[in-house]
Amino acid sequence: MSERLEDIAMQMVTGGRGLLAADESTSTIKKRFDAINLESTETSRRDYREMLFRSDEAMKKYISGVILFEETLFQKAADGTPFVDIIRAAGAIPGIKVDTGAKPMAKYPAETITEGLDGLGERLARYYEAGARFAKWRGVIAISPTLPTRGSVRANAQALARYAALCQEAGIVPIVEPECLMDGKPGDHNIDRCAEVTEFTLRIVFEELADARVNLEGMILKPNMVIDGRNARKASVAEVAECTVKVLKATVPPAVPGIAFLSGGQTTEEATAHLSAINAIGHLPWFVTFSYGRALQDSSLKAWNGKQENVAAGQREFTHRAEMNSLAAKGNWKKDLEKAA
Ligand code: 13P
Repeated sequence: MSERLEDIAMQMVTGGRGLLAADESTSTIKKRFDAINLESTETSRRDYREMLFRSDEAMKKYISGVILFEETLFQKAADGTPFVDIIRAAGAIPGIKVDTGAKPMAKYPAETITEGLDGLGERLARYYEAGARFAKWRGVIAISPTLPTRGSVRANAQALARYAALCQEAGIVPIVEPECLMDGKPGDHNIDRCAEVTEFTLRIVFEELADARVNLEGMILKPNMVIDGRNARKASVAEVAECTVKVLKATVPPAVPGIAFLSGGQTTEEATAHLSAINAIGHLPWFVTFSYGRALQDSSLKAWNGKQENVAAGQREFTHRAEMNSLAAKGNWKKDLEKAA
C-alpha cells in the first residue's frame, strides 16, 4: 500500500466506502453505554469495539478506515490480536483522534477552543509507529443569533491548521473537522443561519490551512451538513442537499480529494438520506462520503446491548447501516431498501 498522503487520502474516500468514527473519548463512550445500562470499563469498551471491527462484511466492503481513541489504537481483542491488525486485515486503515477536547475559551463565554497541540509532534510519531495513517481533530463552532465570534472561529481554525501541518510532516493524513453544531444549545437556528455560519467558518479554515502550508491534496475535510438546528427541523432532504453543496462549492477548493461528513446527531436514516441526495446532485469536485459515529453505531449498540449472545445481531445492524451509507456515498440509497432489510 502506498504511503503517499495523497494516495491514503484517496483510499479513505473512494470506492463507495467511508469512515467509521469509533473514537469516542472515555467520557463520551460512557454516555453511550449509560443508554444501554452498561458500565464503561476497559473490557466493555474492548468488547463493543471488537464487535464492530470483526463485522467482516461491513469492514471489507463498506469501511475504508476507522477513527480510534488512543486507548483502542494500542488495545488488543479478547484473543490477543491487536485491533490495528484486525482493521488492516479487513483492508481498512487505522486512524486516531489526536485532539484532547474542546475546552471553554477564555474571554469567549459559551464558546470553546480545541486543545492538544503541545507535544503533538512526538505523539504523532508514536501513533505512526502503532500503525495510524490518518488522524482527526475536531473544532467546535457554536451557533446562536450572536455566535460564533470571529475570535473563536479564527482560534479554532488556526489550531486545525497547525495540527494538519504537523500530521503531514509525520506522514499522517489529517482529517480537518470544523463542526458547526446543530444539536448544541439553543439548537433552534434555521438552515439559512447554519449556511451562513458554515460558510464563514470554512472560509477561515481554508485561509489558515493555506497560511500553514498544508497540502490540500493530502487532507480530508469533515464538515457538518447545512441543516436546521435540532429543535427547528423543517427543511426537506433536497433542501439540505442543495444548501450543503452550495456552501461547500463556495468554500472548499477542488484540490481537496474528499469530504467525509459527520452525522452530528441526525437520526441514522436522515444522515443516510442526506448523503445520498448530496451525491445524487452529481458533478461534485470532490469524493463525498461518510465519517459517521452515531449514525453508524446507534442501532448496532442497541442490538448488542452489552451481551455476548447479541454480538451477531449487533454486527447485522452495523453491516446494514454501513451498506446503506455506502449506497448513499454513490447517490444510490432508496428508502425502500431500509424496509427490505
Ligand atoms: P457523529 O457522526 O456521531 O457526529 O461523530 C462523528 C465524529 O467523529 C465527531 O467528531
